[in-house]
Amino acid sequence: MTIQRAAKAGFCFGVKRAIELAEKAAGTGLTASLGPLIHNQQVVDYLAEKGLEVIHSVDEAKMGQQLVIRSHGVPPETYEEAKERGITIIDATCPYVQKAQRMAASSSANSFVIVVGDKSHPEVKGILGWAGSNALAIETLAEAEDLPYYPRITVLAQTTQQKSHFFTVVEELKKHTGELIVQNTICAATEERQASARELAEKVDLMIVVGGLSSSNTRKLGSICSGKTKTYCIETAEELLEIWFTDAKITGLTAGASTPDWIIEEVYKKMSEFMEKTQIQEAEESVVKT
Ligand code: F3S
Repeated sequence: MTIQRAAKAGFCFGVKRAIELAEKAAGTGLTASLGPLIHNQQVVDYLAEKGLEVIHSVDEAKMGQQLVIRSHGVPPETYEEAKERGITIIDATCPYVQKAQRMAASSSANSFVIVVGDKSHPEVKGILGWAGSNALAIETLAEAEDLPYYPRITVLAQTTQQKSHFFTVVEELKKHTGELIVQNTICAATEERQASARELAEKVDLMIVVGGLSSSNTRKLGSICSGKTKTYCIETAEELLEIWFTDAKITGLTAGASTPDWIIEEVYKKMSEFMEKTQIQEAEESVVKT
């Protein structure tokens, strides 16, 4: 019995950068993040110990407090609000998200902007904010089918979208416009993690996906893997159950972009212990039989 790790898993560049910026800012004085910094409670707790408070609107910021913007980004109004209130911004918006925001802002002047992604996700709300009123977000192919005709459409993706879904929607959008400008804003880190999870899930008996359950990219990894093999999604090693490993000869391990290495290592260690125990039991059983 073996454990194989996905070639690409865990923290992406944008999340790593956001944590470094927040940790550094927290060390210099009163600091808060606008919403939990990442979709991982263990990391949020760690940063709280370092002094990073979590607030949910600019109004809640205290006088003199620095405000960290998460990697998901925010609409322009948030920057304006902070400026009016004299709040210093530490901008941890991922540069790839900023690129999508800039594209949305410049494209909305001469085309209707469509963002393919989770409408309730802060990243999508932020990108839409940069596009202004000449834009909307859609999640499903059915929503694309229901769209009216627009003379010109620019389509962008939430950075964590599955490529295949994005391009299925793109195909449909061609029927709803005279000119379609496709901006593939799916992040390479997301694609790499999804591709290596898919590749691994195809050759193992069981997949363990580690990450915050509210993390969009972790949920997508879970859905990709469960389409290929038996899959369990967990946040920490404590959730692992020994019984899952009883019949697994090869188990795969992957993790979302907001999962720190130390959690992945804890999970790996516990999985190894379970598998070792199963091997000993099997050896003992074969001795009894002979
Ligand atoms: Fe940025 Fe991609 Fe991570 S958009 S936050 S590097 S998943």
